[in-house]
Amino acid sequence: MRATEVRSLLQLDKPHLRRSDRVLAGAADIDDFRRAAWRQWPRGVRDYVDGGADGEISLRRNRDAYERHELVPAVLRDVSTIDTSHTLLGDRVALPMALAPTGYSRMMHPEGERAVARAAARAGVPYTVATMSTVALEDIPRGGDLWFQLYMWRDRALVEDLLQRAAARGCRTLMLTVDTAVTGHRLRDTRNGFTLPPRLTPRSLLGMARRPSWCAAMLRSDPITFANVPAEMASASESVMEFAARQFDSSVTWSDVDWLRDRWNGPIAIKGIVHPDDAARAVQHGAEAVVLSNHGGRQLDQTIAPLDALPAIRERVGSSLELLVDSGIRRGSDLVIALALGADAGLLGRPYLYGLGAAGQSGVERVLDLFAAEVRKAMALLGVTTVGELKAAGPTLLRSVPPVTTRPVATP
Ligand code: FNR
Repeated sequence: MRATEVRSLLQLDKPHLRRSDRVLAGAADIDDFRRAAWRQWPRGVRDYVDGGADGEISLRRNRDAYERHELVPAVLRDVSTIDTSHTLLGDRVALPMALAPTGYSRMMHPEGERAVARAAARAGVPYTVATMSTVALEDIPRGGDLWFQLYMWRDRALVEDLLQRAAARGCRTLMLTVDTAVTGHRLRDTRNGFTLPPRLTPRSLLGMARRPSWCAAMLRSDPITFANVPAEMASASESVMEFAARQFDSSVTWSDVDWLRDRWNGPIAIKGIVHPDDAARAVQHGAEAVVLSNHGGRQLDQTIAPLDALPAIRERVGSSLELLVDSGIRRGSDLVIALALGADAGLLGRPYLYGLGAAGQSGVERVLDLFAAEVRKAMALLGVTTVGELKAAGPTLLRSVPPVTTRPVATP
């Protein structure tokens, strides 16, 4: 064989010069992004993101709930054009999906919430900025559909201020998180001695030393703070974290939803509901949506998986509420299952944090591209071409199989 013939057979890829391109090359599913993020993060951060409460039973069941469904394709339909766009809380979105609020994103990557907001805007999906954001509301890039997640502080003047700032930043939807009356016990964090922001102890230093590029990036960027809490609100003797703990209000009730309703003009979504009675009360108190969620398994362990709670809640509230569901969505087909069971949209939590940790904004972009491609593929193979068609065909596309035995979440 001559050298020219060998050359024509040999197809060498161009080397990836940027680190993020190298990290992303070959990432084919969310697990790959997770592994890529894990290679960047010290152990404390990895466990903070991945961990659940107590025995992590909710965490496992959230996944099992999706895996317990079988899809039943319909063939020989014209699926040459697929439209994944949908109307969600009054806005047209490219996919029936939004990014869930997650605090402390600058710990996953120095660009944090800025990177996520840009990637969400590019993908045409809403991004929910968290109360515990590490970038101030005013500094979140505009351009996309922004929502704001609220934790009800004891200091209602501070809450009113947050609402005004969120509205001024262009956030249309307010998401009130209600499943955190007290904080869940995340054993991994306790065992790792993990604090927010991470404190330098001999143990955490050791973990960080194994991830020098993460350490260098953190040292180069501004200190991590709760950027939405004015520094002067915390007294000189307490950290902003202690201030936040003091401000968490476990006495919040439905009358506080009424209080919020009087102060927020756009749609209100109540996040952290899995009981049909609570969903019905959300309608009575003027909410437009609820997010069926167990906080990604991070709060009460052994909570019903939100996907399993969905059919009864849909039956109870009919079309009077938009139902968003999160906790455990890892593939486009999971989102399709949720829609077929009556959800209007799904929320992604950890998956976009994996993209962020792996490669910043381009990592989140790739995760969102992946989801969009997976949803299109699943719809085409199921024989539906629009989200409306998918929701109408609903249960005919699904079969539920007996529970699989729960198994530990694999660690890469
Ligand atoms: C969260 N979540 C969360 N929820 C909320 O209302 N406010 C918050 O500040 C946070 N912070 C947060 C941090 C991290 C690291 C994670 C993983 C999660 C919960 C989040 O909005 C969502 O409910 C779950 O992440 C959804 O489950 P999956 O997609 O992670 O399985």
